[in-house]
Formats: sequence, structure tokens, C-alpha cells
Amino acid sequence: MTQTRILTGITTSGTPHLGNYVGAIRPAIAASLAPDVESFYFLADLHALIKVQEPERVQRSTLEIAAAWLACGLDPAKVWFYRQSEIVEIPELSWFLTCVAGKGMLNRAHAYKAAVDKNRAEGEDDDAAITAGLFMYPVLMSADILAFNANQVPVGRDQIQHIEMARDVGQRFNHLYGEHFVLPEALIEDNVATLPGLDGRKMSKSYDNTIPLFAPRETLKKLIYSIVTDSRAPGEAKDTEGSALFQIYQAFASVEETDAMRRAFADGIGWGEAKQALFERIDGEIAPLRAKYETLMARPQDIEAILVDGARRVRAQHVSPRMKALREAVGLRDLSQTTTKASVKAESKASLPVFKQYREADGQFYFKLADGDEVLLQSRGFASPKDAGQLIAALKAGKSDVAALLAAADAVDDARRDAVAAALAAIVQAEAEAQAAKDSATS
Ligand code: TRP
Repeated sequence: MTQTRILTGITTSGTPHLGNYVGAIRPAIAASLAPDVESFYFLADLHALIKVQEPERVQRSTLEIAAAWLACGLDPAKVWFYRQSEIVEIPELSWFLTCVAGKGMLNRAHAYKAAVDKNRAEGEDDDAAITAGLFMYPVLMSADILAFNANQVPVGRDQIQHIEMARDVGQRFNHLYGEHFVLPEALIEDNVATLPGLDGRKMSKSYDNTIPLFAPRETLKKLIYSIVTDSRAPGEAKDTEGSALFQIYQAFASVEETDAMRRAFADGIGWGEAKQALFERIDGEIAPLRAKYETLMARPQDIEAILVDGARRVRAQHVSPRMKALREAVGLRDLSQTTTKASVKAESKASLPVFKQYREADGQFYFKLADGDEVLLQSRGFASPKDAGQLIAALKAGKSDVAALLAAADAVDDARRDAVAAALAAIVQAEAEAQAAKDSATS
């Protein structure tokens, strides 16, 4: 079965709050249960270093966020769950991408531009207090995504530009070095609520208006009672529109419960009573998760072991082989493989038509037959890279013919058929010659 790869990172720079739960954790864990997806959720601790330069806070936040995801039901046996900093190939890939990324593109990144604008507004030098880390943020994020050939990346609207940059960088690399990367798409969950915070603005650490996800019951209650409301008295009808209390309630309640609360607002429910109902609703959902969270937090060594294991497995299965191919692609190669003969051969090969395999955003595997810049034929999608690879191998070895090749593609117009046949013949001949040269060298 074709699997869609879904990947997202969580910057480890704070304590998880209700907004993170509703907007990211809860939907991501639900999505990871679908049968046809392979999910990658990781702790973006290298990204955290851009914002947080207090080691204890980075460590504490990493622990809290890992424990929160596990407590909310993330199953590390079904989902790839790891720490970015343990995937040592990511900074390496980030460098490869740095070498193809346009500086002009990075100049346009929203976060960097906002920092420059702030400096200007304050009469400072453009670059005051801006690190190269902030500037390179989108490239590191591209490496996170491209390292796994992720198809879809669930992110907030503020991150769409970063996904576009990952596509741009991936495309440039592909253009230079061959089709190595799938170009990712942002997955924006429009039906997932952005939760308002205590003051009615979006719940966010930067507004200092958050409700920690695992605050103790009494603290949770106190915080909920401090949500802003207007001054209408009990008995007066209340507006659901623009009410932070109502919006938060809606994020935790069923459709029926929400309708009932809407009626209660119209009927003049007192704010105290509404807050009590909201508190009970949230605590009802969170209390069992809080118990798990507390158990996990008491055993940080278990969380450490889960993350180490996740990183080890995901590197072995995905990143190491891929990085090997990428090193080869850019020319970081085994020197013993460079003989004058080989380089001459590589040159004559360059003028030969080639099969190129790649993966599309639909998760399927494709190949094309290209002669220089011209694409002679494009295959249909294959469920696995092996199926496509076997057909190509048979074609190259002359064990399969041009009819089989044409059958694996959508309609090829007649004028192209001859070019396809000629290209295949040239490949088969070159393969046979190469095989003969190898045979005589070993005999
Ligand atoms: N930049 C993301 C955020 O702050 C976190 C992140 C890092 C990320 N690498 C990623 C998200 C890769 C998606 C994919 O929200």
C-alpha cells in the first residue's frame, strides 16, 4: 500500500499549553492513527537553540514536550518519534542545502524580515542582535523535511512560507544533482481551532496568556476563572461571538454540548457558571492524560530511552541510506573509485539517455526516460520503488522490450515512440558494453 509521509517538528522552547494541544498534539495523534500514513514527529531542539540560549530551559522543555506527546497517546511503535539533534545527518544535509539555497530567498523569510524591521523601527543597525541561526532557520527546516522525503507537513499558517522555501531548495538540488527529493506540501488544518488565550488574543507564549496543558487541577481552575469576559450580569443574554470562553468550550465539547452552551448564553447563563462548566469539560478530558504525564515526568530515563531508540531506528531505516546517496550525488565520494577510465566513461554516459526514478507528492514512485533536458517518456505511478526499479533493470538488461516500457506509461504519441525506442536501444547497448568490459577485467 502506498503510504503518505506526514512529518512535523515541535520547537522545544516552552511548556505545552492548551493551544498546542488543540491545534497540534490532538489532531496530529489522531492523524497518525490512519492506516495509510507513515508519521514522523520530532522535537526540533536544534531550532530551539535559535530562540533559547538557556541550557536548562532547552532540556526542560524537551522533556515536557516529549512527555506531553506520549501522555496524549503518541505510540512510538507506530510513529517515528525522535529528537532532531540526534539525527546527525540533518546538519550535514542542512549544509548541502545551504550551498544551493538563494540568499535572496532567505532575505525574504518573514521571521528574519520582522527582526530587521524591528531594528529599523528602533533606529538600530539592520543586523543588530540577529544571529546567522535565525537567518538559516528555513534551511535547517528544509533539511528536516527533505531528509525524509515527507509528502505533507502539518503546520500553522505562519509556517507556510517555510514549506515553500523547502520546495524551492529541494527543487534547486534536484535540478543540479538529479531527482533526489520529493517536494513537500503544507497541510493546513482549517477546521482545527486556534485557541484564544486568557486575554482573548491567540493563545501564545509570546502574549503570556497561556493555560499550561498539565497545570494541576486547582491551577487550571484558577486560570479558567481568569479568562476575560464582559461585565454582563447573570440573566442578561451573552454573545458567543468573540467570547474566548465560548471558543475554548467549543474546542473541547461535542456539537450537542456546544449547542446547549450557545442556548445557555442566549438564556443569560452567569459567567461563573459558564466558567465552571468549561473547567469541568476541560478537566474531564485532560485529567487522565495528566495522570500519565505525571508518571512519565517521574521517569525521565524512560523518555530518554524512547527517544534514543526512535532516533537509532529512523536513522538506520531512512536517513543513513539516503544520506549516503546524497553524499555520492554531490561528489563526496570514495576516491578509490576515481580512475581516468571511469571519468571518461562518465562523460560518454552523460550524453546517453537515462532512466530517472523519483517519488511524487502523491506518495507513488515514478520514472522518466530523459535524453539531456528532454523527457521522452513519463511512467505511471508505482506503489513501491522496487516495482519501478525491477522494470527498469529488465529494460536495461534487454530482458524486457520497448512495448513493456510504453505499457508502463500514459499514452505516448507516435512521434515520440521512435525516439523512445532509439533511446532504449542505446541504453541496452551501453549496458552490454559495460558488462563486457567488466567481464574481461575480472577474467
Ligand atoms: N518551525 C516550526 C515551528 O516553529 C518547527 C519545525 C522545525 C518544523 N522543523 C520543522 C515544522 C519541520 C515542520 C517541519 O512551528
